[in-house]
Amino acid sequence: MSPPSTVLVTGGAGFIGSHACVELLDHGYEVIVVDDYSNSTPQVLTRVERIAGRFVGAVYELDIRDRRALSAVFDRHAVDAVVHFAAYKAVGTSTRMPVEYYDANVGGTTALLRAMDEHGVHQLVFSSSCAVYGDAGHERLDETTPPRPTNPYAASKWLCEQILADVCHRCPEYTVLSLRYFNPAGAHPSGLLGEDPPDPPENLMPYVAQVADGRRERLHVFGNDYPTPDGTAIRDYLHVMDTVDAHRVALDHLADGPGMHVYNLGAGRGSSVLDVVTAFSEVSDRPVPYEFAPRRPGDVATLVADASAVAHDWGWRPTLDLADICRDAWRFQQLNPNGYAGSARRPNAKE
Ligand code: UD1
Repeated sequence: MSPPSTVLVTGGAGFIGSHACVELLDHGYEVIVVDDYSNSTPQVLTRVERIAGRFVGAVYELDIRDRRALSAVFDRHAVDAVVHFAAYKAVGTSTRMPVEYYDANVGGTTALLRAMDEHGVHQLVFSSSCAVYGDAGHERLDETTPPRPTNPYAASKWLCEQILADVCHRCPEYTVLSLRYFNPAGAHPSGLLGEDPPDPPENLMPYVAQVADGRRERLHVFGNDYPTPDGTAIRDYLHVMDTVDAHRVALDHLADGPGMHVYNLGAGRGSSVLDVVTAFSEVSDRPVPYEFAPRRPGDVATLVADASAVAHDWGWRPTLDLADICRDAWRFQQLNPNGYAGSARRPNAKE
């Protein structure tokens, strides 16, 4: 089977989705985007096209749970494969709105599968998360670590994986590659695409960027009593450009054969919150004031990927490090101090 040429990207205007669109356009794919802009804006796609120097094939503003609208997209385009990013991703919010999260993330995925099934599309790259491992208590997690999700966001990703595995088990025409990301961060090196966080940001990297920029007074470091060398929590930060490079490689490997395959995507390198503060301060040449605060509920001490399976099977390895992540996040922050607010609208955003 030949690699796909027309790829439907759900959530294509989001943080990882928008970078993935650039990557796929750069590699000659025809890209179709669906997004409901619940956590993004149409302007992002103007920037995607500007970077790639090519147009996205078509853009549809829709919620993937809208079966009729989604089916119409498959009717209009000969989709070869789907890269499915569209999902809610705020861990904290998921604990307050579990029904919303299960409906959007699990219901969205089954609605997508239904549309794929009806149109004979059986190749999917699924956006999963290291969150499925929960508090696994290991130093380095490989894909055999039993999932133990600790919040509805993580549980929704694990439920999706189980559904996808069962579909692959029962329907041998399906190929699903599920990528469990550790902590994607950073921005496109042009400074045109990056993470446009909620106010205030929930995640570390955009928060640190806003502190370095003087928009916020100081970072609250959640916990300094973890069993780690400096007492702050350790994560495996993966540059968003490396993350989307792995998706492009995944599309090539959809042709390897049917079934469900799960891979960790991480750098395999742990950085503490204070490591991030130091690295960001160095690349930005700005102070990043911080104070220690209590642990954030649900956080774990250490989450670092064993990403040797994807290296072994696909030869994929990240090429960028924490300094690159901070440098690119800083460039995006400086060029877009208010995120995407106020940037030019894409003229045909509501196709
Ligand atoms: C979580 C999810 C991950 C998801 C990501 C983006 C888990 C295990 N991981 O990552 O799957 O993709 O959110 O939504 O659920 N921190 C501070 N101060 C802050 C913000 C964060 O000290 O103001 C600390 C956190 O306590 C944590 C680290 O920085 O130790 C990284 O936090 P964050 O960027 O929110 O990502 P995760 O919670 O690791």
